[in-house]
Amino acid sequence: MNVGVLASGTGSNLQALIDAAGHDELGPARLAVVGVNVPDCGALTRARAAGLATFVIDHRAHPTRDAFDQAVLAALRPHAVDLVVLAGFMRILTPAFLAAFSGRVINVHPSLLPAFPGVHSQAQAFRHGAKISGCTVHFVETGVDSGPIIAQTAVAVRDDDDEERLRLRILAEEHRLLPAVVRQIAEGRVSVQGRRVHVAPG
Ligand code: GAR
Repeated sequence: MNVGVLASGTGSNLQALIDAAGHDELGPARLAVVGVNVPDCGALTRARAAGLATFVIDHRAHPTRDAFDQAVLAALRPHAVDLVVLAGFMRILTPAFLAAFSGRVINVHPSLLPAFPGVHSQAQAFRHGAKISGCTVHFVETGVDSGPIIAQTAVAVRDDDDEERLRLRILAEEHRLLPAVVRQIAEGRVSVQGRRVHVAPG
């Protein structure tokens, strides 16, 4: 299964995928290409260092969301991508993009959805006074952070936490959860019925 990773930021989740691939922990999934929308982001540096195919499509160079998404689709096409993984990709994908990869786009999000969707979710949870937060890997649909949930990990919010400490503990769990889900999908163990996602035992 060819995986295309899209990222915008530091790329630590991409690194977790690269490391998992290096340890043979992605099953039949193979990292085919990494695309970024921020030209100098850490994710691009990490992808290049790992010798992966990369592309850069700066959203600021495209007048509309549709034009940007069409450019990304065109860049993915030569790599015969089966699964698109959003690993800190901070753009909302258009219905046209999602139709091209129907049911084959997943995202990692730093909260226990449906709580705290959108941006700065770890800070939202901390400021709200949540006692438990965590991370979610879910299928992507047209709504923001709203698709069927594949897997979640809970992270306790400690009395002595601050936003940054909580963010880092959640991030560490993202690094475990995302590669595990990619493997489950590549092994054909993930099925969806409506909003319910079933993962067959490995
Ligand atoms: C991660 O915490 C990821 O869950 C979040 O951005 C961070 C990227 O970190 N994504 C979102 O908030 C998407 N709504 P990384 O670049 O180090 O992987």
